[in-house]
Amino acid sequence: LKYVWLDVDPGHDDATALMMACQLENIKLLGVSSVHGNASADCTANNTARCLHAFAAPSDVLVYPGACKPLLRPTKHDPEIHGEDGLGGVVGLPSADSPEVQARFARKVDGSLIHAIEGMATAIKDAWRNGTGHQVSVVSSGPMTNIALFVSVYPSLMEAVEQFVFMGGGVGVGNRSAVAEFNIMCDPEAAQIVLDAPVKTVMIPINVTHTAIVTSAIHSRLRSPHLPFLDGVLAHPSTNLRSTLSSVISFFAGTYKSTFGFDQGPPLHDALTITYVSHPEFFRAQRFRVDVELHGKHTAGETVIDVWNYRVCDDSWGSNGKNCVVAQSVQVDQFFELLLEC
Ligand code: BDR
Ligand code: CA
Repeated sequence: LKYVWLDVDPGHDDATALMMACQLENIKLLGVSSVHGNASADCTANNTARCLHAFAAPSDVLVYPGACKPLLRPTKHDPEIHGEDGLGGVVGLPSADSPEVQARFARKVDGSLIHAIEGMATAIKDAWRNGTGHQVSVVSSGPMTNIALFVSVYPSLMEAVEQFVFMGGGVGVGNRSAVAEFNIMCDPEAAQIVLDAPVKTVMIPINVTHTAIVTSAIHSRLRSPHLPFLDGVLAHPSTNLRSTLSSVISFFAGTYKSTFGFDQGPPLHDALTITYVSHPEFFRAQRFRVDVELHGKHTAGETVIDVWNYRVCDDSWGSNGKNCVVAQSVQVDQFFELLLEC
């Protein structure tokens, strides 16, 4: 069983990561924090709570709203890809002010919200129990502001973190500039802080996530309760979750086409983070030194991956070490079987 904390900015593909985190049997989801990114922090917090309810997360899995802006940079959102509220076009989710969604927010006894990093620290400390319990995988599918704050405010809890797994960056390619990927570009300083932490980090770059495309064939399987999958077992005929997820895919497919001219279907970037925690054997990966370009005129936000080991590094995690396991490929068919099973 993997103990997991998830930090998200839903976001269509974040929604699929949440769905998997709620359904995978070898994942124990301790809590979910939200962060600015695809939409404002208010929207991503509400979307997280709406998704947890719709995806039948256990009732003790709560939402902890986090940072509303990057550490240093101006805030950026992505309405072109995710709509103004982060989950454009998605049907079947409860509204943010419904009692069941409001009940998903973690609150103190005085009714005030518990902040992301406080929730993260408490859950991780409780799981770790001074070394007698479990380490926790901290998974990030948005800008890494909350994770960087957690690293900076709670250094004594780093021993309780098994790994930081993040969707972000690219090996020589970007999606929001020639070389910068959205999550890293939004808060590059935060990403560097996380990469410098004395903890194993795992990067799932866009080179890999762009192979996990929801083709129309996969989308049909998701939609149809009658198509057999998983060695002939028939899907459950309940269609609500199917139609909600189908609307996630349709909207995301549409914006990928209108923004990037990409018409094969949307890449499910963020779902690969939770898949890595659950099934690392689906991935080929290698450890390198990774840093973030913070100042380049043309390259700000690029993840710089030292594939030839030019920078002599030791084998520690952190600021002098080969600090990051970089995913190089994923077994796409197995990933989609797992998604459909969820
Ligand atoms: C990342 O940016 C967002 O659009 C997605 O949710 C994903 O986390 C891909 O670059
Ligand atoms: Ca995201």
